[in-house]
Amino acid sequence: MSTHTPNQITLTKPDDMHLHVRNGEALKSVINHTARQFARAIIMPNLAPPITQVQQAQAYQQEILDALDDDKGFTALMTLYLTDNTSPRTIQQAKESGTIHALKLYPAGATTNSDAGVSNIKNIYATLESMQETGIPLLIHGEVTDPDIDIFDREKIFIDRVLEPLIKDFPELKIVLEHITTRDAVSFIQESPAHIVATITAHHLLINRNAIFRGGIHPHHYCLPVLKRESHRKALVKAATSGNPKFFLGTDSAPHAQHAKESACGCAGMYTAFNAMELYSEVFDNAGALDKLEDFASTFGATFYGLPKNQQQIRLSKQTWTVPEYLPYGSNMIVPFRAGQNCRWQLLHNHDS
Ligand code: DOR
Ligand code: ZN
Repeated sequence: MSTHTPNQITLTKPDDMHLHVRNGEALKSVINHTARQFARAIIMPNLAPPITQVQQAQAYQQEILDALDDDKGFTALMTLYLTDNTSPRTIQQAKESGTIHALKLYPAGATTNSDAGVSNIKNIYATLESMQETGIPLLIHGEVTDPDIDIFDREKIFIDRVLEPLIKDFPELKIVLEHITTRDAVSFIQESPAHIVATITAHHLLINRNAIFRGGIHPHHYCLPVLKRESHRKALVKAATSGNPKFFLGTDSAPHAQHAKESACGCAGMYTAFNAMELYSEVFDNAGALDKLEDFASTFGATFYGLPKNQQQIRLSKQTWTVPEYLPYGSNMIVPFRAGQNCRWQLLHNHDS
């Protein structure tokens, strides 16, 4: 149980159920930010080339472990990237490995490093059948990619055209609709069976699409799925703070070097790993729902993935601090979410329960 006063909250160390940490020097720059905030994270497989095989995921897991500053007790929960060629045999190997906790579906062309993604969901039906049998979850980037569909409608159209038929064809398949951004997705998840759930990012809870355009173009507020209008943000806050176990924390923190964001064709992604729990605390505090934060951040995701409760705890205090303008990112810099601005909550330290 979390304890909280108006100015302090202590909770079970949370899990980030959707995280990009890259590899190489970039990984070394970001992973310790996450390990300070979270006990475990579901690691996205969209590297170049993507992580499609169990052995690759195991090597990547070792690289993550090696990049940790010290033994913070952090666990990287690995995933595989689905392609048109992922076979049912790979699903069996994933299940037997104990390392792989889910498979990620990127519709080809939907986002960063998704070119090798699935071009037509029907191409992987035998593989999905095998996933349904083994009980391994399918994680979905839920956006259609047709150029004639407006970018702000991609999630809703995906639900109507792809997700609904998929659920009819695989009624027992465990599904996470990742980083939901619309009231339509909230309603869809609420009305679906218990094994169909969603993650919600801090940035989609905190800002709406005006943030991309306020007084000029703001590349650090560009991510995918793109931010939506205020009424959608409000629906997400309501869902996240409602205490419904179908909605849980996944930051989708997606680091890109400053120059790759501040470019004529800027990359999609916001870097929230540095101050993630501070950001979520602010959302829950603003909603008068700090008592619901621990379940959203530390319980519901773990329960869905069949993981034990973490033993460590974290403590957050209501005290204002200023987020740095830049952080090192390999030989480059990265601009964290809220750079140069204040956070109203601060992560104090980890301590054992
Ligand atoms: O904004 C995003 N960035 N959305 C994604 O789906 C991928 C991610 C990335 O890997 O950069
Ligand atoms: Zn992502």
